[in-house]
Amino acid sequence: MNDTLGIALIGCGTVGGGVARVLLAHADRVTQRAGRPLELRRVVVRDPSKSRDPLIPLDIISTDIHAAINDPGVHVVVELIGGTGLAKRVVLDALAAGKHVVTANKALLADAGAEVFEAARRADRTVCFEAAVAGGVPVIRALGESLAANQVTAIQAILNGTSNFILTAMAEGGKSYADALAEAQKLGYAEADPTLDVDGSDAAHKLAILAQIAFGVAAKPHEIARQGIDTIEAIDIRFANELGYTIKLLAEAWTGGHSHSGNGAKLSRSGAVPAEPTVALHVAPVLLRHTDLLAQVRGAYNAVLVYGDVVGETLYQGPGAGQMPTASSVVADLIDLGVGRAQRTFAAAKLWSREDRGFTVEPPERVRSRFYLRLQVVDRPGVLADVTRILADEEISISSLVQHEAEEEGGGPVPLVVVTHYASTGRFRKALDRITRLPTTAAAPVFFSMGD
Ligand SMILES: NC(=O)c1ccc[n+]([C@@H]2O[C@H](COP(=O)([O-])OP(=O)(O)OC[C@H]3O[C@@H](n4cnc5c(N)ncnc54)[C@H](OP(=O)(O)O)[C@@H]3O)[C@@H](O)[C@H]2O)c1
Repeated sequence: MNDTLGIALIGCGTVGGGVARVLLAHADRVTQRAGRPLELRRVVVRDPSKSRDPLIPLDIISTDIHAAINDPGVHVVVELIGGTGLAKRVVLDALAAGKHVVTANKALLADAGAEVFEAARRADRTVCFEAAVAGGVPVIRALGESLAANQVTAIQAILNGTSNFILTAMAEGGKSYADALAEAQKLGYAEADPTLDVDGSDAAHKLAILAQIAFGVAAKPHEIARQGIDTIEAIDIRFANELGYTIKLLAEAWTGGHSHSGNGAKLSRSGAVPAEPTVALHVAPVLLRHTDLLAQVRGAYNAVLVYGDVVGETLYQGPGAGQMPTASSVVADLIDLGVGRAQRTFAAAKLWSREDRGFTVEPPERVRSRFYLRLQVVDRPGVLADVTRILADEEISISSLVQHEAEEEGGGPVPLVVVTHYASTGRFRKALDRITRLPTTAAAPVFFSMGD
């Protein structure tokens, strides 16, 4: 048998605990797949008195990050602390000490990918991060290796399981947003502070990483236009359903100067190489037809649809988080390092390097889409005419209108749903500003893109 690959686990919480379990409980399988033993030599935590998996020998647990990184028997440092402070220090120190790094930390890569990967290249070491996007779904390998013959033309993805769980509970259980969120928290799918999940930040981090692999663009998460699910009300779910649609929080990348349908999606989806090397990135709730593949992804699952110019459309789906699914991806990275595949792929991919692949990020105003717009309007003559005139001023035509009769007599505000034909986001927002200021508009308008 070849040389042992020594591993230091920095962080042994949810994911780290799962990684330790797979390495220790399935040592024979892992050794066979890697062609050499993978030895868990050190486990570093904040509080060594916490109870851990009984398979972890107590004498390898410590709080000494420095000693773990500099142990000559350690070849790979697995960073599973999370965050962008100490985690970044650990990763940079490990690379400087000549160790390969495996991480599940999307925030770190999205924020500091260029710095981390440059440090890796300087040290001639490898950084693996399959678990950083979509947990147990092997989408990093799919994009970087299996689809290497393609230019990716579009990505549409459900990358936040918490949001998808909430939207599923609203659509199928008829729950309000608040009740669905409370259920997600009770079942452990949502954190006590769910902000980063429901406001689209977490999905934006992951989209930034996918966009780097697929298009070579280094978009910072804050540069990605995003809208969360916290503005979605049960009434929107019902109207969407009535129109034949399901609402999903999507992270999307569209090449070729457009988004969603109209020319852009047809081009992107047909796999034609985009005439314009631009890519639009955004995270937002999108109305998908019930028959759309992504509309059928339920609960806390993740799914990534990738359109490639050679292959066409491919779909990757599975558990996007959780202890063992995430550990599955981390251990796959360790096995790839053991085999030596990861090193060669990493050297060839030149991720976050200055090598320009020609794509630039398109400003969100140019992205074209159809829109669902829900207004709360005072029920009196002329309201509809005002709204249609403002949309017409921006050359936006209406595809359908839904208005139910007021439940009570007396002219209180009633919901009015307008579905538009294709329009640029910029022009739609201009119209929206004016509609918001109409004296008959009784509440802030709610709007979402349509996925067709
Ligand atoms: N959880 C998931 O489903 C999931 C999925 C995909 C990716 N990820 C990513 O995986 C990473 C880890 O997440 P997690 O959920 O496993 O986190 P976690 O359960 O909070 O575990 C964090 C670990 O880091 C240790 N730690 C924290 N501060 C430390 C310090 N100063 N020195 C030494 N150790 C320290 C903690 O020690 P103690 O045990 O002593 O507290 C704990 O073992 C994050 O980047 C996250 O984004 C998580």
